[in-house]
Amino acid sequence: MPDNTTDSFFRYLNWLFNPFHGLKTTEVYDLIGTSSLTENALYLNLGYWRDADTIDDASEALALLVAKRGGMGAGDTVLDCGYGFGDQDILWARNLKPEKIIGLNITSSQVERARMRVANAGLGKSIDLREGSATAMPIANESIDLVVSVESAFHYRTREDFFREAFRVLRPGGRLVTADILPTENSGNPFGRIEQWLSWSLVAGKFNIPQENYYLIPSYKKKLSTAGFVHSDIRSIRDDVYEPLHEYLSKNRTFVGKLHPLARILAQLTLNRSAESVYAGLDYILSYAEKPQGNGREGRGTGDERRGKNPIPISTTMRGRSQQTQKPKGTLMTHYTTTPNRCLRLIL
Ligand SMILES: C[S@@+](CC[C@H](N)C(=O)[O-])C[C@H]1O[C@@H](n2cnc3c(N)ncnc32)[C@H](O)[C@@H]1O
Repeated sequence: MPDNTTDSFFRYLNWLFNPFHGLKTTEVYDLIGTSSLTENALYLNLGYWRDADTIDDASEALALLVAKRGGMGAGDTVLDCGYGFGDQDILWARNLKPEKIIGLNITSSQVERARMRVANAGLGKSIDLREGSATAMPIANESIDLVVSVESAFHYRTREDFFREAFRVLRPGGRLVTADILPTENSGNPFGRIEQWLSWSLVAGKFNIPQENYYLIPSYKKKLSTAGFVHSDIRSIRDDVYEPLHEYLSKNRTFVGKLHPLARILAQLTLNRSAESVYAGLDYILSYAEKPQGNGREGRGTGDERRGKNPIPISTTMRGRSQQTQKPKGTLMTHYTTTPNRCLRLIL
């Protein structure tokens, strides 16, 4: 085994199985590389499964859900934060034809690959993929019509900084849409709370989600409002994400062979558990907000209304859980990092 492969093996081992060892976001994505679950593209999202039967269709459907929620179309200058390998930008450029898409991504290896793919697709003029962070955007004030972020904002340090930056770069009346991961409200049952804690801790620890981003939908809404946004609308779409994904992956385990040998073990272990347990601590939301017009009128109506389309049918329920509370209540879910003190509080 060459040195760099050995090194990568141990970094992977440490990342997956050492609970006290985290990696930076860019290191995580460098390690994962192009091990996308999709067959025909390199999407890295979990997909929107309402009308999809395959992971490829579901990943595209999530990208389209976000774009349509923001009313993406001709004439729009779009800023895509956390574009992965650029699949969604190619899809939008081909199908929705916005005037321009600018992308920001912090993972250099993805930036390089995504730029090549855009050039090969002949879309270099309409898609401009940059290396940069969603929390310090190298973008001029009031130059963007629509800011989108597909399954990426939970990473940002912090998501609030992203909201502030999005507000700055949007033109008056501009829109912000995210597909994002949040924690679920605490279960009333102590065992349920342990399951939620384990579920959230695993994802937050492995995928470097800062603790500052740990809050529920009402706080998300409040933070959007603090950044200046109006007409926000946030819905849980978790029923159309986790469970159908889990069911699909459990039945189609060939994808496991595409994973790093060490990740295969964890994947098999995960798929042998129920979706309810694996994703107990994870909500998944579609969020929409507008920057006010600045002339006394507040925004232009939601993206779809603006373009005279019906709102997208999305699940607004979370099975058996209310979404009214701002922060997960109780002693269990207030922190997710695995320190001995917190573990003790969890058990007590
Ligand atoms: C789960 S992947 C999603 C990629 C893509 N949106 C998709 O649906 O396939 C998260 C992406 O967010 C990017 N990312 C993480 N933190 C970022 C930041 N602060 N600014 C910009 N991109 C970031 C990562 O590099 C990665 O490409």
